[in-house]
Amino acid sequence: MALLLGLESSCDDSAVALVTSDRRIVAQRVVGQNQAHAPFGGVVPEIAARAHVEVLPGLVGEVLAEAGVALGDVDAIAATAGPGLIGGVLVGLLTAKGLALASGKPLLAVNHLEGHALSPRLVDPDLGFPYLLLLASGGHCQLLEVRGVGDYRRLATTIDDAAGEAFDKAAKLLGLPYPGGPAIEQLARTGDPRAVPLPRPLVGSGEPHFSFAGLKSAVQRAVAAGTHRPEDIAASFQQAVVDCFVDRTRLALGRSDAPALVVAGGVAANSSVRAALQALAEAEGRRFSVPPGWLCTDNAAMIAWAGAERYAAGMVDGLDAPARARWPL
Ligand code: KG4
Ligand code: ZN
Repeated sequence: MALLLGLESSCDDSAVALVTSDRRIVAQRVVGQNQAHAPFGGVVPEIAARAHVEVLPGLVGEVLAEAGVALGDVDAIAATAGPGLIGGVLVGLLTAKGLALASGKPLLAVNHLEGHALSPRLVDPDLGFPYLLLLASGGHCQLLEVRGVGDYRRLATTIDDAAGEAFDKAAKLLGLPYPGGPAIEQLARTGDPRAVPLPRPLVGSGEPHFSFAGLKSAVQRAVAAGTHRPEDIAASFQQAVVDCFVDRTRLALGRSDAPALVVAGGVAANSSVRAALQALAEAEGRRFSVPPGWLCTDNAAMIAWAGAERYAAGMVDGLDAPARARWPL
């Protein structure tokens, strides 16, 4: 049994977690920065990096104290090394390198997307490889066949905006706060998903790619028209995204023999998304797995877990591991 310390700082959440290789989350903290960025309507990279500097070392101390362990009791230290906002990534990765150097423990430079991709296995011990993954977050929207640790086949990506980005932009147009996903989901509860006719970009097209820019423009026109209730726009927008997810994922399932369908990343916290993908999996005769909401949005337990999976596979990194703003899986 190995004990992994994980650090996450690639966007606007500072997070630290201690996770064991037998799937126990020993202690964890997530500190968001929503208030710091709220006046700007989105994440300001410089503010994010400074906030990580202020918060992250204290969180490491808190998590170790809560678990009642010393740094020397940890087997390895994992940190997000990209992709993400480079200032924040550097803060987390360099903190982890310092801890690794001080303790003599190995470093695992984790791809944030791999953290999301492997996160369901932290809570679902029966989920084996391969599985088809819809990874929908603030920065990405991809369909991947997860064949093993470090072994990914990408079937599709977005040709413009990420899914979470679309939620955030639509929310802004509706005057809702950042992050827009939870705000839209909340408002959509009282709306009619059929009230506002919105496009389903790329639905029916021959490759399972995504596109959300046109949907955002359509929301902009619906808001400007002033004839629709905001809750109807929110519900119709959410339904359009769900319809795109289902259509594109169904196509990808036809190109993969993977016995399971998994959805992860921040947008997978959305209950309409979860329900629709579960129904699709059932209709297609695949097993379905989705992490709990807190494990879908950014956290360090998924980084520590990806670290545990890589550590078990002997994939440790040197202290020269680079921080990467861009790093495709
Ligand atoms: O995975 P994540 O926490 O960070 C990235 O790696 O990007 O994803 C954040 C994104 C944001 O765009 C946020 O609006 C979206 O996930 N999100 C949601 C929900 N919760 C978070 N989108 C739709 N419904 C939600 N409940
Ligand atoms: Zn993420």
